[in-house]
Amino acid sequence: MTRKVLLLPGDGIGPEITDQAARLLGACQTAGLDIDVEKALVGGAAYDAHGEPLPAPTLEKARAADAVLLGAVGGPKWDAVEDLSKRPEKGLLGLRKHLGLFGNLRPALLYPQLAEASSLKPELVSGLDIMIVRELTGGIYFGHPRGTEERDGERVGYNTYVYGEAEIERIGRVAFEMAQKRGGKLCSVDKANVLEVTMLWRDVMERLAPEYPDVELSHMYVDNAAMQLVRAPKQFDVVVTGNMFGDILSDAAAMLTGSIGMLPSASLNESGQGMFEPCHGSAPDIAGRDLANPLAMMLSVAMMLRYSLGETALAERIEAAVGRVLDDGLRTADLADDSARAIGTRAMGDAVLEAFAQQA
Ligand code: IPM
Ligand code: MG
Repeated sequence: MTRKVLLLPGDGIGPEITDQAARLLGACQTAGLDIDVEKALVGGAAYDAHGEPLPAPTLEKARAADAVLLGAVGGPKWDAVEDLSKRPEKGLLGLRKHLGLFGNLRPALLYPQLAEASSLKPELVSGLDIMIVRELTGGIYFGHPRGTEERDGERVGYNTYVYGEAEIERIGRVAFEMAQKRGGKLCSVDKANVLEVTMLWRDVMERLAPEYPDVELSHMYVDNAAMQLVRAPKQFDVVVTGNMFGDILSDAAAMLTGSIGMLPSASLNESGQGMFEPCHGSAPDIAGRDLANPLAMMLSVAMMLRYSLGETALAERIEAAVGRVLDDGLRTADLADDSARAIGTRAMGDAVLEAFAQQA
């Protein structure tokens, strides 16, 4: 059966890196993958064209797709949009919410070739392989009440950090199962010394633990987790946490691997449908200049093949191709120590495609 893939390039460097992903999908089709590829607008690009960051036709196409590949959204161009509900980021958050993509997998994997590019000493990061499991459709990002209003003559802004037991349990199960498939260690990150909502979070994780006797569960406060990530990151295997803590910790973890330009992510719902995107943002400062690293996006294609399309062999072929170009010493500017020798987005895409073809 032909499966449907929707490309949402978005803003900033999104279109450039999505082009490289589209070429890679073409190579997969040549290798026998039976997919239909469509494109639609999201984020600032959609706002400019239709006045909405998530136009109804885009959402419909996303619902109908087996998997969505998203570039990045946002940029200073839309900072002046006063209505927060029309900001590019709302396009992304709307997709996550409407598709029920509660399970966000953010691997922080160090390619050995890039140990020198890490912000930490090579011995602290060599062999680093962490999986951050971030809850993506709840918590303070979506809690009500929220807003800004006038109280006693001053403006007040407020958000609500809320999780129900069922929401915690379902992300907990994703994380426990992930730990079973990996090193058997799960660290749940909370702020249970201060926030009731995360006391409940910790309780639920504890309640689930006996069902996964092969997983060693530990707990850590988020401030300590931030410190441990930059002090001794290899102590972590799987980390599970809520939406906002996961947003912050995953950026920190990404940098340990040399560049945030390397890290893909998967966001899955209960039926296995997924959206796949690089962890980095739209990088407006380098947009349109053939400078962006397309590897996180190309590795997101690999995650899509693995998690939503069940095409493990093709996923592995892409990952091996990326390893190969790094072995060959090819680096985009974010990874290169000698920027004069850095190659561009398209040249990096060419190199991955070539390495991919050679593995046939
Ligand atoms: C991410 C991003 C988004 C988030 C933004 C763009 C809304 O930072 O995917 O980590 O905060 O979730
Ligand atoms: Mg983020």
